[in-house]
Amino acid sequence: MPIETGFENIVRRGELMAMHTWFQLGGAAEYFAEPETPDQLLALVKRCHAEGVKVRILGRGSNILVRDEGVKGLVVHLGAPAFCEIRFEDRSVVTGGGALLGQVVTSTVNRGLAGLETLVGIPGSVGGALHGNAGTRTGGIGQWTIQATVVSAAGEVFQRQADELAFGYRQSNLDELAILEARCQLEEDNPRELAKRMQKHWILKKASQPLGHQSAGCVFKNPRGASAGEMIDQAGLKGTRIGGAVVSERHANFIIAEPECTSEDVLRLIDLVRNQILERLGVELELELEVW
Ligand code: EPU
Repeated sequence: MPIETGFENIVRRGELMAMHTWFQLGGAAEYFAEPETPDQLLALVKRCHAEGVKVRILGRGSNILVRDEGVKGLVVHLGAPAFCEIRFEDRSVVTGGGALLGQVVTSTVNRGLAGLETLVGIPGSVGGALHGNAGTRTGGIGQWTIQATVVSAAGEVFQRQADELAFGYRQSNLDELAILEARCQLEEDNPRELAKRMQKHWILKKASQPLGHQSAGCVFKNPRGASAGEMIDQAGLKGTRIGGAVVSERHANFIIAEPECTSEDVLRLIDLVRNQILERLGVELELELEVW
């Protein structure tokens, strides 16, 4: 059965992924869906599972590069209000997986709850942030997370408690298909002090990263005890260009996509940087960015 049958109002074909990624690059998804409720999501995932159609969940597209040839299967965007709720229970914030991390950060600060303020300026959804344990040099969202509700590739819902959650540097064991909801347990603090701390983090981030450009954050993970950005900078690679893809002059671990850029340009530039760092420093850089 075609996977759209019964889901005509939420599934469309050939949606350009460039419209949904921070890079503004990437070909079309074979199928693209924006479910309005968790029940719709589960029914659609079960249909795809039965029909052997691969499903991918798109957060807010801030940490992915979609190839120019696009993606086979279904891409699901969890942007509907039902997936983006943010509510408070004592010192916990409970958020939908589709909620914007930035909104969660500011609402916890306004509420006088400390923990997430250092994540200011990190784009993307809570689901994406948890999947890759998004964070700063001092830690990630995972250290505050005590519960998550996830959906398997077969469309089953599970709850993971704190002792079943494991977070490391830019990684987590939340590798099921989708994250529906998460609970972070925070600490009470003075809202004014918190807002000041958040602002300090934001100023530092803005000063060191090319936030106003088309990019997808850091391209490579930091090798243990080192900084990929510093290595690429010291190798003299800032400003290196392939087609419309350029290594940022502001922070060497960012690749900027200029207007005529293609995903292939970015991929070739990634290879060039990786090969140069391997040849010159003997270090194999690992991608932080996800490539679809
Ligand atoms: N540096 C350079 N040249 C550059 C970039 C950095 O010399 O072009 C030097 C800096 O001067 C500093 C050191 O490298 O001495 C570290 O730089 P920075 O503080 O910018 O941190 P980073 O290790 O490059 C990490 C995260 C960022 C996060 C910042 C701030 C990774 C791969 N990157 O960057 O996360 O915002 O710390 O906490 O872990 C991301 O994950 O997408 C991301 C941007």
